Amino acid sequence: MKLQLETLYKNRENVHEHFLQDVLDGLNQNPKHLQSKYFYDKKGDALFQDIMAMPEYYVTRCEMDIFQNKTKDLATEILADGSAFDLIELGAGDASKSLHLLKYLQKTGAKFTYMPIDISGNILEVLHQKLQSHIPNLDIRLLEGDYFEMLQKASKVSSRRKAVLFLGSNIGNMELSEASDFCFELRKNLNKNDIALIGFDLKKDPHTILNAYNDPKGITASFNLNLLERINRELDGRFDLDKFEHFQNYDPLSGACRSYLVSLENQKVNIGIHSIDFKKDEVIYMEVSQKFSVEDIQNLSVSNGFKLNKTIMDSKKWFADAIWTAV
Ligand SMILES: C[S@@+](CC[C@H](N)C(=O)[O-])C[C@H]1O[C@@H](n2cnc3c(N)ncnc32)[C@H](O)[C@@H]1O
Repeated sequence: MKLQLETLYKNRENVHEHFLQDVLDGLNQNPKHLQSKYFYDKKGDALFQDIMAMPEYYVTRCEMDIFQNKTKDLATEILADGSAFDLIELGAGDASKSLHLLKYLQKTGAKFTYMPIDISGNILEVLHQKLQSHIPNLDIRLLEGDYFEMLQKASKVSSRRKAVLFLGSNIGNMELSEASDFCFELRKNLNKNDIALIGFDLKKDPHTILNAYNDPKGITASFNLNLLERINRELDGRFDLDKFEHFQNYDPLSGACRSYLVSLENQKVNIGIHSIDFKKDEVIYMEVSQKFSVEDIQNLSVSNGFKLNKTIMDSKKWFADAIWTAV
């Protein structure tokens, strides 16, 4: 496998400074907020793997159904006119779903480079090892860093047409207005006829959705609490994890499923030389997992310079991978 690793954060001190600044900014807001991109350190990556394996977490299984059983439909859209291309995956994680598409594309003899982008260098290593054993001849370039900074980097190193994957309903981890801004920014980074393949978790039975984020074993709770642990580990934080509790809710009208950490008492928490006050029952808003209707997906595409080519759903019709063309 041809491998190149590009990293935005060559200087690890920069990462640390960004992390500290974002944490302090977020915890000084009202309501308090932490950015979910910081969930993914080594422990967070492992916990997310556990979440994907939970019986309640249908999201991964539904999209896997599409990538395993409708691979040809996905590949046909991506191969388009048959010219060489870069297959860029934003927030690739362990690439367990894209692996099926990559294998299929490789078999067709398509000429492409796979460029997975992820903010977690640790998960890129996991991905790399997995792909090395499954598709030894894959042309791959790992990009460690934030979505758009790395997408711009990808554009600098190659002028081939692009097909961009954004799976796992990662787009749902943004407020609706942010998701629209994201699609606009994505379009700005693409050329006419480039392709975006975006995974959307669909609105469905509210109980099914809430259960997926509120598992009885508390894995999702640990995933959220791990961000406080990470602050303790990396930023000299003094969070007492026993004094915070995970709370999840789902609003079927807006489609927003949100996670929070609730402070169980009045407390002051030091982070290095800084200190943050929490009132009893005050929450830290951690993450939204937005659910979409088919109309939402259509509107998001046309209002941001894309044409919706095709929507491919799993057998339960719980999840949709939408294929857009930049117009
Ligand atoms: C919910 S996981 C999904 C992984 C994969 N897309 C899937 O469907 O299984 C989100 C992934 O996106 C990465 N990520 C989150 N925010 C990011 C950002 N701003 N820039 C780059 N990667 C990000 C995380 O490190 C993590 O691996």
